[in-house]
Amino acid sequence: MSILLHIAPDLRANASMGTTANPVLIDRFGRRVDYIRLSITDRCDFRCVYCMGEDMSFLPRDAVLTLEECARLVKVFVSLGVQKVRITGGEPLVRKNALWLLQNISSLPGLREQVMTTNGSQLEQYATALKAAGVHRLNISLDSLDAARFRKITRVGELDRVLRGIQAATAAGFEHTKLNSVLMRGVNDDEAPALVQFAIDNQLDIAFIEEMPLGEVGRHRESSFVSNDETLQRLQDRYTLISSTESSGGPARYWRIPGTTSRVGFISPHSHNFCESCNRVRITCKGELYLCLGQEDKIELMPLLREFPQDNAPLCAAILDAMQIKPKGHDFDLNRAEPAVVRFMSMTGG
Ligand code: 5AD
Ligand code: SF4
Repeated sequence: MSILLHIAPDLRANASMGTTANPVLIDRFGRRVDYIRLSITDRCDFRCVYCMGEDMSFLPRDAVLTLEECARLVKVFVSLGVQKVRITGGEPLVRKNALWLLQNISSLPGLREQVMTTNGSQLEQYATALKAAGVHRLNISLDSLDAARFRKITRVGELDRVLRGIQAATAAGFEHTKLNSVLMRGVNDDEAPALVQFAIDNQLDIAFIEEMPLGEVGRHRESSFVSNDETLQRLQDRYTLISSTESSGGPARYWRIPGTTSRVGFISPHSHNFCESCNRVRITCKGELYLCLGQEDKIELMPLLREFPQDNAPLCAAILDAMQIKPKGHDFDLNRAEPAVVRFMSMTGG
C-alpha cells in the first residue's frame, strides 16, 4: 500500500485539473469519466433468464460493501469530478436501508444527478421515499405485458406488482422514467409495439437492450438473440419514428414518435460505436471497479477502504491509476462457447 501512497503525486500530475483544482478522471484515450454505476447488492427478488441462473448463490454479508463504504466511495468519486451516479443491483431496493445511502449521496455538493435502475417490484412501497431521498430518475425493467410471459422471463416476478410500481413512480412525481426491455426470440420479441404503446400511454421513455453474454445462465443466447435493427423495423411498421440527435450521455440511440412525449432508445452493445465516448465505470457490490462492462479489467477498492478507514488518499490514487487500464472498447461475441464475461449483470448492475 505504501507504493500506492508513493505514486500518488505522479498520478496527480498526470490527471487533468478540474475547475475546483481537484484532479478529474481522464483515461489514456482522453475520455473523461464523470459517471459511476454502483451496485449495492447482488441479490434480487427476480431471477430473469438473461441475467441469472436458476440456482444462484449470493455473497455473504462481509463480502459486500457496507452502506457507509458505498457512501464513502461515492464521495471520493465525486471529489474526482464524477457528476452522475446510478444505483443498481441486483435489485437495489432489496438492500436494507438503501434509502439512507440515497439521502447521503444526494447531499453531496458537486453531484448533478442520482438515478436508479430497479425491477419495479418494490416501487409501490418506496417511490415516494425515493423521490424524497433525492433520486432524480428511474429506469424500470419491463420485458412483457403478459403476466404469464412476465413470470416465465423473471421466473418469479408478478407483472401486476411492477405495473403498480410504475404508476406509483409517476404518482410520486418521477418524470422521464425509462423502461428497459430485453427481447428474446420466441419469448417476447413480438411485444416491441405493445411495450412502446404502453410507454406512450404512460408518458414514459423506453429502451430496447440487446441481450449481452454476461454470466453463464444455462441457455444458448445466440438462438434467442434479437437485434435492435429488427426491433426498429418492426416498430416502423406501426409508428413513424424520427431519429433524434439527443443523447442521455449513454450508449442509446434515440428516436421520437411525433405526437407523443416518449422517446424510444436502442442500446446495441454489439456495435462498438459508443465506446469512444464512454464516460462511465462500474463498481460492484464487492467494491471491484470495472473499467468496461464487456472486459475484465478491474481493480479492488474494498481492501483500500478497509485498510485505510480514515485516509482517502490511497483510494484516490488507485482510482486515478485505474484510468490507465480502461480498455478502448468491449468485445462481445454471442457465438463464443464461453460467455465473454463470466460475471453476471447482477454483479455489475448493467
Ligand atoms: N443482457 C442485456 N441486458 C441485461 N440486463 C440484465 N442482464 C442482461 C443481459 N445479459 C438488463 C436488465 C435491466 C438492466 C439492469 O440490465 O433488463 O433492465
Ligand atoms: Fe433481478 Fe434485474 Fe437481474 Fe432481473 S435483470 S434478475 S430484475 S437484477
